[in-house]
Amino acid sequence: MMSPIGVFDSGYGGLTILRQIKAMLPQYDYLYLGDNARAPYGTRSFEVVYEFTLQAVRKLFDMGCQLVILGCNTASAKALRSIQQNDLPGIDPERRVLGIIRPTAECIGDITLSRHVGIVATPGTIKSNTYALEIAKLHPDIKVTGEACPMWVPLVENYEFDSPGADYFVEKSIGNLLRHDSEIDTIILGCTHYPLLMDKILKYTPRTVRVVSQGEYVASSLKDYLNRHPEMEQRLSQGSTTRFLTTEEPSTFNSSASIFMGDSTISAERITLG
Ligand code: DGL
Repeated sequence: MMSPIGVFDSGYGGLTILRQIKAMLPQYDYLYLGDNARAPYGTRSFEVVYEFTLQAVRKLFDMGCQLVILGCNTASAKALRSIQQNDLPGIDPERRVLGIIRPTAECIGDITLSRHVGIVATPGTIKSNTYALEIAKLHPDIKVTGEACPMWVPLVENYEFDSPGADYFVEKSIGNLLRHDSEIDTIILGCTHYPLLMDKILKYTPRTVRVVSQGEYVASSLKDYLNRHPEMEQRLSQGSTTRFLTTEEPSTFNSSASIFMGDSTISAERITLG
């Protein structure tokens, strides 16, 4: 039986993570699931994000995944711990669900010189305080300031990442963040949709501030995880295939996913969750 690595996101954002993982680990099979019909998650409550994420993880397990990456900060912030601690032992203690906040928090210590870091993310991720808590555990000397950007995901999901609307909202949020702490030298894009806004983000960020997106850190952290866990690595199938699932209409997914993945041959299948 195929045992692909599952990658889950509320919509398209996790594709920016999948793209980097595939570039680093092309030998494995991948199964991507976007819950596009119910995106965005960023403004939903803890309970709802947890319920939806658990449904997605169960679906990916049913389809043969032994390992699932939550390629979504909102789901990593609000659902990962409960799933790992409360649900996995009852579902199958041998399987694993990993998030993307911890790998990002790990790398940041080597990047910031001023030890002042800014996080831009969805309201859900910022409200959970997960970035600040994870960074404090690993690098207690770093001061973390968060800025919720409720409009950024809708801009991306609606192909407005190159529009004057994007200029307005990106300038506003970056300005707010840097006004709160002018010593910030590193901004983490704490939402997997945000790399699509990179041109605008760089336009409104001073050159002295570094902007970090997560994909490559998540990919190298996964590679390291698989080296340290051969019992998991050996259970993964290696056929270099990628399959895409969406809860919405597939043709819309295919055209958007092509932009996120830089691949025009994507052909998704529709599934239902819940
Ligand atoms: N891409 C998700 C993240 O990284 C959020 C998108 C959403 O709000 O659904 O947080």
